Amino acid sequence: MAIEKTYNMIKPDGVRNGHIGEIISRIERVGLTIERMELGMVTLEEAEANYGEHKGKPFYEGLISYITSGPVVKMVVSGENAVATMRKLMGATNCADAAPGTIRGDFGLTVDENVIHGSDSVESAEREIKVFFGA
Ligand code: PPS
Repeated sequence: MAIEKTYNMIKPDGVRNGHIGEIISRIERVGLTIERMELGMVTLEEAEANYGEHKGKPFYEGLISYITSGPVVKMVVSGENAVATMRKLMGATNCADAAPGTIRGDFGLTVDENVIHGSDSVESAEREIKVFFGA
């Protein structure tokens, strides 16, 4: 199986609630590698570039203000099957539906503040890594 890269981001609630260490530990424990990592704010420009496909949906404005509301941890994670493995570790988009043992199931309650982002494909990952870390 090919080595993939994916973009992951511990969202403002994950940082604010003190879950950085536990989330990083879960990523490493499963055997994935954190290649790049940066704590910082998401600019409005980055937020709109990352979530542009959702513009016009009822949750879009709230999503942009949430993701720019406080520091996040931006990461490039690599390893075999990294995209799907991270999506499995993260759990369902809505924390209320996420299974216990997943990051969203253990550290979140709602879909509006759902702790972590992960690319949904290798193509999305390439685009998102460019948005947040440059070429
Ligand atoms: S959808 O419904 O197919 O557009 O959802 P999806 O492609 O999974 O990604 C939606 C992103 O917006 C965040 N978000 C919400 N999604 C659905 N409903 C509500 N109310 C909502 N609020 C925020 C969701 O977490 C996805 O962001 P990321 O960062 O990719 O997880």
